[in-house]
Formats: sequence, C-alpha cells, structure tokens
Amino acid sequence: MNFDAIPADRLPALLQRMPKAELHIHIEGSLEPELIFALAERNGVTLALDSVEALRAAYAFTDLQSFLDIYYAGASVLLTEQDFHDMAMAYFRRAAADHVVHAELFFDPQTHTERGVPFETVVRGLKRACEDAERELGVSALLILCFLRHLSEEAAFETLAQALPHRDAIAGIGLDSSERGHPPEKFARVFARCRELGFRLVAHAGEEGPPAYVWSALDTLHVERIDHGVRSIDDPALMARLARDGVPLTVCPLSNLKLCVVSSLSEHPLPALLAAGLRATINSDDPAYFGGYLNRNFTETFAALPQLGAAEAYRLARNSLEASFVAPERQAAWVAALDRCFAEAGA
Ligand code: ADE
Ligand code: ZN
Repeated sequence: MNFDAIPADRLPALLQRMPKAELHIHIEGSLEPELIFALAERNGVTLALDSVEALRAAYAFTDLQSFLDIYYAGASVLLTEQDFHDMAMAYFRRAAADHVVHAELFFDPQTHTERGVPFETVVRGLKRACEDAERELGVSALLILCFLRHLSEEAAFETLAQALPHRDAIAGIGLDSSERGHPPEKFARVFARCRELGFRLVAHAGEEGPPAYVWSALDTLHVERIDHGVRSIDDPALMARLARDGVPLTVCPLSNLKLCVVSSLSEHPLPALLAAGLRATINSDDPAYFGGYLNRNFTETFAALPQLGAAEAYRLARNSLEASFVAPERQAAWVAALDRCFAEAGA
C-alpha cells in the first residue's frame, strides 16, 4: 500500500471512517453525566452533586486515584439489569458511529456486588446489550471481567466463583483500579486458576506503575495483552521483549492526558512505541470522563503528533483487529474491509 499517496488533510476523515476495534473500554467509564442523573432519578439514588454541570466540573483529575474516587461514585446509580443494559447500549451507539466493528468491554463486578447488586444482574444486563449491539448495530462485542486490584486476592476468588455459572458470557479476565502498591503478583494464584479455566487474560500495567509491573503481568500472570503499558518506554529490555513477542498494548491517549500520565499529547510515547515495533492500539478507557470516544482519541492524538501519518493509522487499526479475542477468520474479514477503506482513500 502507498500510504504517502494520502495527503495530511484527508487523514482525519480516514481515521474516523476506518474500521477498528476497541479493546480497552471500562463500560462504567462510559456513563455520561446525563445518564448518571437519569438513572439516579429512576432508582431514587441521591448524588453528592446536584447537577450535570457540577458533576462535569468535578472532572479535573490529578492522578488515577482522584479519577477512581469519582468513577466509583458515578457507578452507584447502577442497580437493575436494565441499567447495565442501557449503559452499554449508549456506548455501543457511539462506538457504531465511530466505525468500531468490535468492542471488548471491561466491567468491574466488585464495584456492584459490594453495594448489594447481584453478580447476575450485572452480567445479564451487559450480555443482553452485547447481543442487541450485534443484531441492531452490527457491532460485535465480548465481555472481560476485571478484578479490582485494591481489594484482596481472596475477594477476587469469590468474584470468580460468582462468575462461573456465567462462564460462557465472559471471554476474559483483567485487572484494574489503583495500580501503585498493588503489583500483578498479588493476583498470581487467581490468574493461574483463570488460565486453567480457559479465560483469555489481560491486565492494566505500566499506566502509573513502573515497568516492573509490566514484567510481572507477563511473567507471573501470563497475560496476552497489556492495558496501557506506556511506562514500558523507560525500560529498553522490556521494550525489546514486548516487540519480540508481539504483545499488544492497549494505549489510551486522552486518559493518559487527563490523569497526568503525560503532560501533553505532543509528548505521548505512542510514536516511539510504534517505531520500536510494538503492537500498540488506541482506545478510550473511560470516555465519559476523559473527553472523548474512540475517534476523538485518534484525531486528537494524530493532530498533536506530526510523526503519525496514514501508515501509522493503518497499523493501529490493524493491530486492534488482530489483537482482539475473536476467531482469525472474523479478524481477516475486518482487515479486508480496512484494506478496502485505505484503497478507496488512494493508498
Ligand atoms: N478503572 C477504570 N479506568 C481505569 C484506569 N484507567 N486504570 C485503572 N483502573 C481503571
Ligand atoms: Zn483502563
């Protein structure tokens, strides 16, 4: 393909139009303030702030923990199966508009079971939304259950036991929440059990935590993808390992900006990760909180980083499709659609 044939002014439209997968989206992080207030009213939940505007104004984060405190408070309005369904459908409609052909949704059951919401309420609502998304919007979807790393491994084992009656609805297991002080090896035994059970494995590592956490996620948890992983840039041996093994990284540029992992998008390590041959992808993380869904992550990142052009756009979209947990034949059909999209654009 001749990527140089695509002029820079045609790139934003191409970024938006190209078929892509989203592999790092916390579905609770897609709750827009308007929906938080609508669900609070529907369920009779009282919120600490009294308007959509006041809530949005509180979205000024200094680090991951300052965000998580607000994010968990927002999730407190989710009580019924229909709530989880409606939240996910709102995300899927936006994803479809962004030409997302496949999404892998993280969900945090412990955030809900700790409040007395049964595990099955959460998973049934999300599962029904995944089915509706495929049928009504043509968006394929999988669910990834995340353990909260600020809680104990014992609590993760209890959550796994609750998940087993719903084994078929859950494609994979992940690890999220407060990273610093909670290294991957804290969850070595529960991840080993999940591996025996045949779950696909991922973990957040190297977002705020050090490169050592990425090594540990790979060598102790045996994950297939690293969520974030941007701090790997500080460890040349780790960069070589990630490149050699083709480990996908689910990078989230607007999240990194909002949580002060980078001081500006123009300093984001994404171009260096790609140049080193790493299988990076672009994702939105918690789009309702970080100022943009997937296409906005693409367009703002490319606008800030002139090193990124049509070749990198193609590589990122292709990585996202090929790093997904769907069968190779389905991936190949999406890659063929991506190739047609670039050919039509003149590449
Ligand atoms: N939960 C939701 N978003 C997260 C993030 N960016 N890092 C860790 N845990 C999260
Ligand atoms: Zn995340």
